[in-house]
Amino acid sequence: MKTEGPLRHLLNWNEVPAGVWDACLERALAFGAGAADASGAAGASAMAGASGGAARTGAAGPGAGREVVLLFFNDSLRTRVSMEMAARGLGAGVSTVVPGQGTWGFAWGDAPMTGTEAEHIEEAVGVLSRYADVLGVRLFASGTDLEADRTDARLRRITATASVPVVNLESAWYHPCQALADAAVLRRLGFGGGGGAGRGKFVLSWAPHPRALPMAVPNSAVLAAARLGMEVTVARPEGFGLDSAVIRAARAAAAGSGGSVTESSDQRAAFEGADVIYAKSWGGMGRYADPAAEEAARLALVEGPASWRVTAPLMAQTKNAAFMHCLPLRRGMVVDADVLRSENAVHLEQAEYRLHAQKAILEWIWS
Ligand code: CP
Repeated sequence: MKTEGPLRHLLNWNEVPAGVWDACLERALAFGAGAADASGAAGASAMAGASGGAARTGAAGPGAGREVVLLFFNDSLRTRVSMEMAARGLGAGVSTVVPGQGTWGFAWGDAPMTGTEAEHIEEAVGVLSRYADVLGVRLFASGTDLEADRTDARLRRITATASVPVVNLESAWYHPCQALADAAVLRRLGFGGGGGAGRGKFVLSWAPHPRALPMAVPNSAVLAAARLGMEVTVARPEGFGLDSAVIRAARAAAAGSGGSVTESSDQRAAFEGADVIYAKSWGGMGRYADPAAEEAARLALVEGPASWRVTAPLMAQTKNAAFMHCLPLRRGMVVDADVLRSENAVHLEQAEYRLHAQKAILEWIWS
């Protein structure tokens, strides 16, 4: 099913024209507003330049006669279910593959394949490209090779082999589907509507976790809020700064949208006057090759005086802020249950908007 011309991969939002982000955001909001008939509502005009006008969802939608194959190298609840539903909702067929579970395990290297893996990733992706119109791939960070992870080297190996568009379903460095859904939720909260209205203070707050989690969500959340023109603060302990290239990219996006990006190691001060708190854990980049040091650094923080857990008293420092998290999360470690149960928590709406966002992304690819 090789297509002519450049493929519309979505590895991250930095590598597609800004107009595509804007159009997909409008379409996600329109799908969320119940736009079964996508010819109406806010998204139609924004999408008009990029799309052929494919509108309806369901059997006669833009996915009719098309197939989506989802490759999940890592676990998922939201992404897997919502991506399957998004494809079906647009009228496409969908197959989900978990390498090594009911399929062959895939080898990646050039060494003779003497191990347990029976198939090479290049053949696997080549074969699936013959069946599918779009490949969705979830492939987390190695957690040990910083340079490979920050360049999404393994995902790019797949796009180099695929002859159909690839959608990143969370890689080492980016989670574009989550970013689009989060942006839609922020828009619904009244932020980033353009013209400087509803700019809002957005705080990405580092959170404790027993494992060193990857950077894809924090990187993507900061970039999304900056694109919306929000006043972004990354609140994190010393030694847990985000990648400087991501901060630079976020500042460049903020410069274009009227927002700003700052960093702080004072969580309480960062919460002052915040409109949105987005909690997320991630590992320290400086200890990538030293898991023992990384674990010690995280444990010291959890057991220290400032636990970095989001609590109701901390939320009381804010301007009645919304609480966001991409999920899954560990209650009592990342955030207390009373915060999750409060009317300010929008984590379930974020999960819902994954479905709407991914419909928008597939629609763009097929337009
Ligand atoms: N937020 C998110 O991507 O959830 P899953 O890992 O469950 O897909």
